[in-house]
Amino acid sequence: MPTEAGLESVMRGWPPPVLDPAGPYSEPVTLLAWALLIGGTLILLVVLAALGIALWGGGALRRRLGGDRAIWLGGVAFPVVVLTALLIWGLSLTSHLQATAPRGDEMRVRVTGEMWWWRVAYLDAGGRAIFNDANELHIPAGQPVLLELDSADVIHSFWVPQLAGKMDMIPGRRNLLRIQADKPGTYGGQCAEYCGGPHALMGFVVIAHTPESFAQWRAARLAPPKPAGGRGAELFLSSGCAACHAIRGTAANGLVGPDLSHVGSRRTLGAGILPNNRGTLAGWIADSQTIKPGNRMPDYKQFSPEELNAVAAYLESLK
Ligand code: CUA
Repeated sequence: MPTEAGLESVMRGWPPPVLDPAGPYSEPVTLLAWALLIGGTLILLVVLAALGIALWGGGALRRRLGGDRAIWLGGVAFPVVVLTALLIWGLSLTSHLQATAPRGDEMRVRVTGEMWWWRVAYLDAGGRAIFNDANELHIPAGQPVLLELDSADVIHSFWVPQLAGKMDMIPGRRNLLRIQADKPGTYGGQCAEYCGGPHALMGFVVIAHTPESFAQWRAARLAPPKPAGGRGAELFLSSGCAACHAIRGTAANGLVGPDLSHVGSRRTLGAGILPNNRGTLAGWIADSQTIKPGNRMPDYKQFSPEELNAVAAYLESLK
């Protein structure tokens, strides 16, 4: 088992901080949130003061508050001016957040919401998938990345609060969202639309790299995983795992569940809910219904402890 410190570093970015923007597509959202919160609080205080005067104030004050002038100023002019200004400011502040089409040769990734995980496909300039992954997104820091958001089943919502506002994933529709991390780091995300059973356990991780480290990561991903054979690989293929999961370079080509080609290099398991190591891999295989009740992977209780360890070791080796 990892140490406390190890666990902490693996799960860094979780739960995602919501008021700590880390890029140009989340900063306006946070600014707007603060303006609404502070402005709303000030207005609430004024209304409470007026209520206090109405209930307990002296005669002159109460008369003034109940007069035509106060009604026209406080009840008509003030809301019209404030709401109009807020609308114009809000629209101009967030106008660049709307992504409508790819720009130039920016990096594109398709993220598909599934019950209850995220399918990730890195795309070429023509929008075709180059390689697949799950529950984790690697991006270069300091540049925008265009996400194409889809759903395979019900409505989910993609939310990495430090990098962008929420965007729904709607079946039959493709929504675009730009994200950018100004600095390398790990940024947590979470499905933000109730999508049934384990919705709360539908987490996500974005890892922003320096340009050099991103290029290395990409080159490693373009290569198929190193062929690791042995007992674990045999058991994986003979026990039904390959009907749902794909591992590039092997006979496993199932498309139902997450692509496992490089599962050993992922930070988390079960869509952001567990640190990834041999112990949690074995626990997930044998007992995922206890860890994430209702998820679509059945418990694999038929493995002996030795077999379970062999399968977990095989998956762990897929870097
Ligand atoms: Cu997916 Cu909530």
